[in-house]
Amino acid sequence: MTGDSTDARSIPVAVDSARSPSRGANGQRVRTLSKGVVGFVGLGRMGTAMAANLVAAGRSVVAHMRHPERLSELKALGITSTTNIADLFDCEFVVSMLPNDDSVREVVFGRNQSGLDGLALGLVPGAIHISMSTISTRATSQLAAEHARRSQGYVAAPVFGNPDAARACEIYIITAGASVDVERCLPLFDILGQQTFLVGSEPSAANLIKLAGNMMTATTLEVLGEVIALIRKHGLNPETFVDILTATMFGGRVHRIYGGKIAAQTYAAPGFVLPLALKTYA
Ligand SMILES: NC(=O)c1ccc[n+]([C@@H]2O[C@H](COP(=O)([O-])OP(=O)(O)OC[C@H]3O[C@@H](n4cnc5c(N)ncnc54)[C@H](OP(=O)(O)O)[C@@H]3O)[C@@H](O)[C@H]2O)c1
Repeated sequence: MTGDSTDARSIPVAVDSARSPSRGANGQRVRTLSKGVVGFVGLGRMGTAMAANLVAAGRSVVAHMRHPERLSELKALGITSTTNIADLFDCEFVVSMLPNDDSVREVVFGRNQSGLDGLALGLVPGAIHISMSTISTRATSQLAAEHARRSQGYVAAPVFGNPDAARACEIYIITAGASVDVERCLPLFDILGQQTFLVGSEPSAANLIKLAGNMMTATTLEVLGEVIALIRKHGLNPETFVDILTATMFGGRVHRIYGGKIAAQTYAAPGFVLPLALKTYA
Protein backbone atom coordinates (compact mmCIF):
# COMPACT_ATOMS: atom_id res chain seq x y z
CA MET A 1 0.00 0.00 0.00
CA THR A 2 1.18 3.48 -0.71
CA GLY A 3 0.32 6.97 0.54
CA ASP A 4 -2.24 7.99 3.13
CA SER A 5 -3.91 11.08 4.54
CA THR A 6 -6.86 12.10 6.62
CA ASP A 7 -10.00 13.78 5.34
CA ALA A 8 -12.14 15.82 7.70
CA ARG A 9 -15.32 15.17 5.69
CA SER A 10 -15.88 11.72 7.14
CA ILE A 11 -16.76 10.88 10.67
CA PRO A 12 -15.84 7.82 12.67
CA VAL A 13 -19.04 6.15 13.76
CA ALA A 14 -20.08 3.85 16.55
CA VAL A 15 -21.97 1.04 14.83
CA ASP A 16 -24.79 -0.94 16.37
CA SER A 17 -25.27 -4.60 15.61
CA ALA A 18 -29.09 -4.48 15.86
CA ARG A 19 -30.73 -4.88 12.43
CA SER A 20 -34.26 -4.00 13.52
CA PRO A 21 -35.09 -0.33 13.91
CA SER A 22 -35.39 0.92 17.49
CA ARG A 23 -37.42 3.89 18.82
CA GLY A 24 -36.09 7.21 20.10
CA ALA A 25 -37.38 9.09 23.18
CA ASN A 26 -40.18 10.72 21.14
CA GLY A 27 -41.23 7.39 19.63
CA GLN A 28 -39.62 8.13 16.26
CA ARG A 29 -37.95 5.34 14.36
CA VAL A 30 -34.18 5.45 14.99
CA ARG A 31 -32.07 3.79 12.32
CA THR A 32 -28.77 2.22 13.19
CA LEU A 33 -26.00 0.75 11.08
CA SER A 34 -25.98 -3.01 10.84
CA LYS A 35 -22.40 -3.68 11.85
CA GLY A 36 -20.39 -5.58 9.28
CA VAL A 37 -23.31 -6.14 6.89
CA VAL A 38 -22.35 -5.54 3.26
CA GLY A 39 -24.90 -4.42 0.68
CA PHE A 40 -23.99 -5.17 -2.93
CA VAL A 41 -25.33 -3.50 -6.08
CA GLY A 42 -24.29 -4.68 -9.55
CA LEU A 43 -24.32 -8.48 -9.59
CA GLY A 44 -22.87 -8.96 -13.06
CA ARG A 45 -19.76 -10.79 -14.26
CA MET A 46 -17.52 -9.16 -11.64
CA GLY A 47 -20.00 -8.41 -8.85
CA THR A 48 -21.48 -11.90 -8.59
CA ALA A 49 -18.03 -13.43 -8.08
CA MET A 50 -17.05 -10.75 -5.57
CA ALA A 51 -20.26 -11.01 -3.54
CA ALA A 52 -19.92 -14.82 -3.47
CA ASN A 53 -16.35 -14.48 -2.18
CA LEU A 54 -17.46 -12.18 0.63
CA VAL A 55 -20.11 -14.72 1.63
CA ALA A 56 -17.58 -17.58 1.43
CA ALA A 57 -15.33 -15.58 3.78
CA GLY A 58 -18.17 -15.42 6.31
CA ARG A 59 -19.41 -11.88 5.65
CA SER A 60 -23.09 -11.08 5.74
CA VAL A 61 -24.11 -9.84 2.28
CA VAL A 62 -27.42 -8.44 1.00
CA ALA A 63 -27.42 -8.07 -2.78
CA HIS A 64 -29.73 -5.89 -4.82
CA MET A 65 -31.08 -7.43 -8.03
CA ARG A 66 -33.25 -5.80 -10.65
CA HIS A 67 -34.46 -9.13 -12.04
CA PRO A 68 -36.33 -11.46 -9.66
CA GLU A 69 -35.55 -14.44 -11.93
CA ARG A 70 -31.92 -14.27 -10.79
CA LEU A 71 -32.71 -14.54 -7.07
CA SER A 72 -32.49 -18.35 -7.05
CA GLU A 73 -29.16 -18.30 -8.94
CA LEU A 74 -27.73 -16.03 -6.23
CA LYS A 75 -29.27 -18.13 -3.46
CA ALA A 76 -27.38 -21.13 -4.84
CA LEU A 77 -24.17 -19.12 -4.33
CA GLY A 78 -25.19 -18.40 -0.73
CA ILE A 79 -26.00 -14.75 -1.49
CA THR A 80 -29.10 -13.25 0.13
CA SER A 81 -30.74 -10.96 -2.39
CA THR A 82 -33.60 -8.56 -2.72
CA THR A 83 -35.28 -6.56 -5.48
CA ASN A 84 -35.87 -3.68 -3.03
CA ILE A 85 -32.80 -1.48 -2.73
CA ALA A 86 -34.15 -0.04 0.54
CA ASP A 87 -33.23 -3.39 2.13
CA LEU A 88 -29.59 -2.24 1.82
CA PHE A 89 -30.07 1.09 3.55
CA ASP A 90 -29.02 -0.06 7.05
CA CYS A 91 -25.85 -1.79 5.84
CA GLU A 92 -22.52 -0.58 7.20
CA PHE A 93 -21.03 -0.90 3.70
CA VAL A 94 -22.58 -0.88 0.25
CA VAL A 95 -20.37 -2.03 -2.62
CA SER A 96 -21.35 -0.92 -6.12
CA MET A 97 -19.96 -2.77 -9.17
CA LEU A 98 -21.94 -1.17 -11.99
CA PRO A 99 -21.29 -0.59 -15.71
CA ASN A 100 -20.87 3.19 -15.94
CA ASP A 101 -21.41 6.71 -14.54
CA ASP A 102 -25.13 6.78 -15.28
CA SER A 103 -25.89 3.54 -13.47
CA VAL A 104 -23.91 4.56 -10.38
CA ARG A 105 -25.60 7.98 -10.37
CA GLU A 106 -28.98 6.26 -10.60
CA VAL A 107 -28.17 4.01 -7.66
CA VAL A 108 -26.89 6.93 -5.54
CA PHE A 109 -29.35 9.68 -6.47
CA GLY A 110 -32.37 7.44 -7.08
CA ARG A 111 -34.54 6.65 -10.06
CA ASN A 112 -37.27 9.16 -9.31
CA GLN A 113 -37.05 12.85 -8.63
CA SER A 114 -37.49 12.43 -4.87
CA GLY A 115 -34.31 10.34 -4.76
CA LEU A 116 -36.00 8.24 -2.08
CA ASP A 117 -34.75 4.98 -3.58
CA GLY A 118 -31.15 6.22 -3.81
CA LEU A 119 -28.27 5.33 -1.52
CA ALA A 120 -27.57 8.99 -0.70
CA LEU A 121 -30.96 9.56 0.90
CA GLY A 122 -31.27 6.03 2.19
CA LEU A 123 -27.98 5.17 3.88
CA VAL A 124 -27.47 5.81 7.58
CA PRO A 125 -24.82 8.45 8.45
CA GLY A 126 -21.50 6.69 8.93
CA ALA A 127 -22.24 4.05 6.30
CA ILE A 128 -19.67 3.76 3.50
CA HIS A 129 -20.38 3.47 -0.20
CA ILE A 130 -17.49 1.46 -1.66
CA SER A 131 -17.52 2.38 -5.34
CA MET A 132 -15.64 -0.33 -7.26
CA SER A 133 -16.97 0.37 -10.78
CA THR A 134 -14.77 1.90 -13.45
CA ILE A 135 -16.26 5.38 -13.65
CA SER A 136 -15.12 8.89 -14.55
CA THR A 137 -13.26 11.18 -12.19
CA ARG A 138 -16.02 13.77 -12.55
CA ALA A 139 -18.77 11.36 -11.48
CA THR A 140 -16.58 10.17 -8.61
CA SER A 141 -16.15 13.68 -7.23
CA GLN A 142 -19.89 14.37 -7.54
CA LEU A 143 -20.83 11.15 -5.74
CA ALA A 144 -18.22 11.64 -3.02
CA ALA A 145 -19.50 15.18 -2.37
CA GLU A 146 -23.10 13.99 -2.09
CA HIS A 147 -22.25 11.27 0.39
CA ALA A 148 -20.06 13.66 2.41
CA ARG A 149 -22.97 16.14 2.57
CA ARG A 150 -24.97 13.40 4.28
CA SER A 151 -22.16 12.34 6.65
CA GLN A 152 -21.67 9.09 4.76
CA GLY A 153 -18.31 7.81 3.57
CA TYR A 154 -17.35 7.30 -0.06
CA VAL A 155 -14.38 5.13 -0.90
CA ALA A 156 -13.32 4.70 -4.51
CA ALA A 157 -11.93 1.22 -5.14
CA PRO A 158 -11.84 0.36 -8.86
CA VAL A 159 -10.12 -2.88 -9.75
CA PHE A 160 -7.73 -4.46 -12.23
CA GLY A 161 -8.51 -8.06 -13.18
CA ASN A 162 -11.19 -9.94 -15.11
CA PRO A 163 -14.07 -12.13 -13.85
CA ASP A 164 -11.70 -15.15 -13.56
CA ALA A 165 -9.45 -13.07 -11.29
CA ALA A 166 -12.49 -11.88 -9.32
CA ARG A 167 -13.59 -15.50 -8.77
CA ALA A 168 -10.07 -16.42 -7.59
CA CYS A 169 -9.84 -13.34 -5.26
CA GLU A 170 -6.90 -12.19 -7.37
CA ILE A 171 -8.06 -8.74 -8.42
CA TYR A 172 -5.94 -5.67 -7.65
CA ILE A 173 -7.75 -2.87 -5.84
CA ILE A 174 -6.80 0.79 -6.27
CA THR A 175 -8.39 2.74 -3.44
CA ALA A 176 -8.71 6.36 -2.31
CA GLY A 177 -10.82 8.14 0.25
CA ALA A 178 -10.72 9.44 3.80
CA SER A 179 -8.21 7.30 5.65
CA VAL A 180 -10.68 6.58 8.47
CA ASP A 181 -13.11 5.17 5.89
CA VAL A 182 -10.52 3.29 3.84
CA GLU A 183 -9.25 1.69 7.04
CA ARG A 184 -12.71 0.23 7.71
CA CYS A 185 -12.87 -1.18 4.15
CA LEU A 186 -9.48 -2.91 4.17
CA PRO A 187 -10.72 -6.22 5.65
CA LEU A 188 -13.18 -6.47 2.74
CA PHE A 189 -10.46 -5.65 0.20
CA ASP A 190 -8.25 -8.33 1.77
CA ILE A 191 -10.98 -10.89 1.02
CA LEU A 192 -11.68 -9.71 -2.52
CA GLY A 193 -8.23 -9.13 -3.94
CA GLN A 194 -4.59 -10.09 -3.87
CA GLN A 195 -3.28 -6.53 -3.32
CA THR A 196 -4.65 -3.12 -2.40
CA PHE A 197 -2.97 0.14 -3.39
CA LEU A 198 -3.96 3.21 -1.37
CA VAL A 199 -3.41 6.30 -3.50
CA GLY A 200 -4.59 9.14 -1.25
CA SER A 201 -7.64 10.84 0.20
CA GLU A 202 -9.18 12.18 -3.04
CA PRO A 203 -11.40 9.39 -4.43
CA SER A 204 -11.03 10.50 -8.06
CA ALA A 205 -7.28 9.68 -7.93
CA ALA A 206 -8.10 5.96 -7.83
CA ASN A 207 -10.40 6.27 -10.86
CA LEU A 208 -7.83 8.23 -12.84
CA ILE A 209 -5.28 5.47 -12.28
CA LYS A 210 -7.82 2.81 -13.25
CA LEU A 211 -8.79 4.68 -16.45
CA ALA A 212 -5.13 5.16 -17.42
CA GLY A 213 -4.59 1.44 -16.91
CA ASN A 214 -7.62 0.60 -19.06
CA MET A 215 -6.22 2.79 -21.83
CA MET A 216 -2.96 0.83 -21.70
CA THR A 217 -4.84 -2.47 -21.79
CA ALA A 218 -6.92 -1.41 -24.79
CA THR A 219 -3.94 -0.14 -26.79
CA THR A 220 -1.94 -3.27 -25.93
CA LEU A 221 -4.78 -5.48 -27.19
CA GLU A 222 -4.91 -3.46 -30.42
CA VAL A 223 -1.16 -3.93 -30.97
CA LEU A 224 -1.31 -7.64 -30.08
CA GLY A 225 -4.13 -8.17 -32.57
CA GLU A 226 -2.15 -6.46 -35.33
CA VAL A 227 1.14 -8.28 -34.79
CA ILE A 228 -0.48 -11.69 -34.34
CA ALA A 229 -2.40 -11.16 -37.60
CA LEU A 230 0.93 -10.32 -39.31
CA ILE A 231 2.56 -13.50 -37.94
CA ARG A 232 -0.43 -15.62 -39.00
CA LYS A 233 -0.41 -14.14 -42.54
CA HIS A 234 3.21 -15.21 -42.89
CA GLY A 235 2.34 -18.80 -41.99
CA LEU A 236 4.08 -18.73 -38.62
CA ASN A 237 2.60 -20.20 -35.44
CA PRO A 238 1.02 -17.36 -33.39
CA GLU A 239 1.22 -19.35 -30.16
CA THR A 240 4.99 -19.78 -30.55
CA PHE A 241 5.21 -16.06 -31.26
CA VAL A 242 3.32 -15.17 -28.05
CA ASP A 243 5.43 -17.64 -26.06
CA ILE A 244 8.63 -15.97 -27.31
CA LEU A 245 7.39 -12.43 -26.62
CA THR A 246 6.05 -13.15 -23.16
CA ALA A 247 9.23 -15.05 -22.19
CA THR A 248 11.44 -12.17 -23.30
CA MET A 249 10.45 -8.51 -23.54
CA PHE A 250 6.68 -8.55 -22.88
CA GLY A 251 6.03 -10.66 -19.80
CA GLY A 252 3.19 -8.51 -18.40
CA ARG A 253 -0.23 -9.92 -17.45
CA VAL A 254 -2.02 -8.26 -20.37
CA HIS A 255 0.39 -9.72 -22.93
CA ARG A 256 0.28 -13.16 -21.35
CA ILE A 257 -3.46 -13.44 -20.70
CA TYR A 258 -4.82 -11.78 -23.83
CA GLY A 259 -1.91 -12.70 -26.14
CA GLY A 260 -2.69 -16.35 -25.49
CA LYS A 261 -6.40 -15.81 -26.17
CA ILE A 262 -5.79 -13.91 -29.43
CA ALA A 263 -3.28 -16.53 -30.63
CA ALA A 264 -5.76 -19.33 -29.87
CA GLN A 265 -8.65 -17.22 -31.25
CA THR A 266 -10.61 -17.81 -28.04
CA TYR A 267 -13.15 -15.02 -28.16
CA ALA A 268 -16.27 -16.73 -26.78
CA ALA A 269 -17.86 -15.62 -23.47
CA PRO A 270 -15.91 -12.36 -23.18
CA GLY A 271 -15.20 -11.31 -19.60
CA PHE A 272 -14.87 -7.65 -20.57
CA VAL A 273 -17.23 -6.37 -23.25
CA LEU A 274 -16.63 -3.49 -25.68
CA PRO A 275 -18.99 -0.88 -24.11
CA LEU A 276 -17.05 -1.20 -20.85
CA ALA A 277 -13.76 -0.67 -22.69
CA LEU A 278 -15.04 2.24 -24.79
CA LYS A 279 -16.11 4.34 -21.81
CA THR A 280 -12.42 4.90 -21.04
CA TYR A 281 -12.29 7.15 -24.11
CA ALA A 282 -15.56 9.00 -23.46
N1 LIG B 1 -15.49 -7.45 -16.73
C1 LIG B 1 -14.23 -7.14 -16.48
O1 LIG B 1 -13.28 -7.80 -16.92
C2 LIG B 1 -13.92 -5.95 -15.58
C3 LIG B 1 -12.63 -5.81 -15.05
C4 LIG B 1 -12.33 -4.75 -14.22
C5 LIG B 1 -13.32 -3.81 -13.94
N2 LIG B 1 -14.56 -3.94 -14.48
C6 LIG B 1 -15.57 -2.92 -14.16
O2 LIG B 1 -16.49 -3.50 -13.25
C7 LIG B 1 -17.80 -2.95 -13.48
C8 LIG B 1 -18.78 -4.10 -13.70
O3 LIG B 1 -18.35 -4.84 -14.83
P1 LIG B 1 -19.04 -6.22 -15.22
O4 LIG B 1 -18.22 -6.81 -16.31
O5 LIG B 1 -19.34 -7.02 -14.00
O6 LIG B 1 -20.43 -5.66 -15.83
P2 LIG B 1 -21.79 -6.45 -16.07
O7 LIG B 1 -21.56 -7.91 -16.18
O8 LIG B 1 -22.48 -5.73 -17.19
O9 LIG B 1 -22.61 -6.23 -14.72
C9 LIG B 1 -23.19 -5.02 -14.36
C10 LIG B 1 -24.33 -5.29 -13.38
O10 LIG B 1 -24.87 -4.03 -13.00
C11 LIG B 1 -26.29 -4.10 -13.01
N3 LIG B 1 -26.85 -2.79 -13.34
C12 LIG B 1 -26.68 -2.09 -14.48
N4 LIG B 1 -27.30 -0.90 -14.40
C13 LIG B 1 -27.89 -0.88 -13.16
C14 LIG B 1 -28.68 0.07 -12.49
N5 LIG B 1 -28.99 1.26 -13.05
N6 LIG B 1 -29.14 -0.23 -11.25
C15 LIG B 1 -28.83 -1.41 -10.66
N7 LIG B 1 -28.08 -2.37 -11.26
C16 LIG B 1 -27.62 -2.09 -12.50
C17 LIG B 1 -26.61 -5.11 -14.08
O11 LIG B 1 -27.84 -5.65 -13.72
P3 LIG B 1 -28.92 -6.19 -14.76
O12 LIG B 1 -28.58 -7.65 -14.88
O13 LIG B 1 -30.17 -5.90 -14.06
O14 LIG B 1 -28.74 -5.42 -16.04
C18 LIG B 1 -25.46 -6.12 -13.96
O15 LIG B 1 -25.80 -7.13 -13.04
C19 LIG B 1 -17.66 -2.01 -14.67
O16 LIG B 1 -17.53 -0.70 -14.21
C20 LIG B 1 -16.39 -2.50 -15.36
O17 LIG B 1 -15.76 -1.50 -16.14
C21 LIG B 1 -14.90 -5.01 -15.28
